[in-house]
Amino acid sequence: MTRRASRVVSGSRVTGRLHLGNYVGALENWVRLQSEYRCFFFVADWHGLTTSYEDTTEFRSYVEEMYLDFLAVGLDPAQVVLFVQSDVKEHAELHLLLSMVTPLAWLERVPTYKEQLQQIAGREIATYGFLGYPVLQSADVLMYRGELVPIGQDQLPHLELCREVARRFNHLYGPVLPEPQALLTEVPWLPGIDGRKMSKSYENEIRLGSSPAEIEERVRRMVTDPARVHKSDPGHPEVCVAYRFHTLFNAAAREETETECTRAGIGCVECKQRLAKAIIRYLAPVHERREQYAAQPGLMQDIRQDGARRARREAAAVLESIREAMRV
Ligand code: TRP
Ligand code: SF4
Repeated sequence: MTRRASRVVSGSRVTGRLHLGNYVGALENWVRLQSEYRCFFFVADWHGLTTSYEDTTEFRSYVEEMYLDFLAVGLDPAQVVLFVQSDVKEHAELHLLLSMVTPLAWLERVPTYKEQLQQIAGREIATYGFLGYPVLQSADVLMYRGELVPIGQDQLPHLELCREVARRFNHLYGPVLPEPQALLTEVPWLPGIDGRKMSKSYENEIRLGSSPAEIEERVRRMVTDPARVHKSDPGHPEVCVAYRFHTLFNAAAREETETECTRAGIGCVECKQRLAKAIIRYLAPVHERREQYAAQPGLMQDIRQDGARRARREAAAVLESIREAMRV
């Protein structure tokens, strides 16, 4: 029998369509966790809105596609409570209640806040909503009495704030909220096809939903060893983006690829054809499930509604004990 001791909560912020970098980072890890813990995983659409509220033309389709991707990677709605944040309005109420106890100074010193203000140029994100991002994230976690939160390094300041908010709440109103802990996800370094960070804003990503032809096209454009002009020039795999992908998605042939490259035994075109095949093979189960679900929009709706219903049941109970403690 599986032990369902700890409660695991995590979300994925909606920024566009999910890519391979999201998969080998967060999602594969979620799939591993789903049978061991009581998991609550969700599409964090309101978090996406904090930075993309100005243009929401594609927003609903991003949310639906992310939910579809969750199912496609093998998250099992029978095992996991799988939902969309905005389907569970309780998150908004808890966000509001927690905002009462969160000192402004705590939010202003969250490092990601200042960094993002500077980095995200061309968008007005000096908003109330964006400052409150970590309060909303705290509500997400505390709503389910989350104990473990699988996240990447970049999210640690948000979790630290969540712990501080829980502590302050408990100090003021009595011990109601457990302090969650991070379950730090080891994320292998996966660049985009141009060698920069994989991101949809650079258009250098390989999407989870890409067709085999699109994967081939992106792999063909991958940056290789710039010193390798002719097939007869020995290559340096360590500087080649395609080789980096080989080590992750074509690991069984890693040594062979390295040897053939350094001995100029294979050309980059062929090497990348092999890589594209390997990535397509790797993603085949994801694609298969994605197509099955995409062909049944009614079923998708039912699964999403059922996930929301189960999340709300949990959320309503915890929220009631929070209101009780706060006497509101
Ligand atoms: N902020 C997280 C990210 O950008 C997404 C997120 C929202 C989250 N709510 C959460 C992660 C709750 C963990 C727990 O990746
Ligand atoms: Fe990269 Fe392969 Fe070309 Fe070597 S042969 S440089 S590993 S693409």
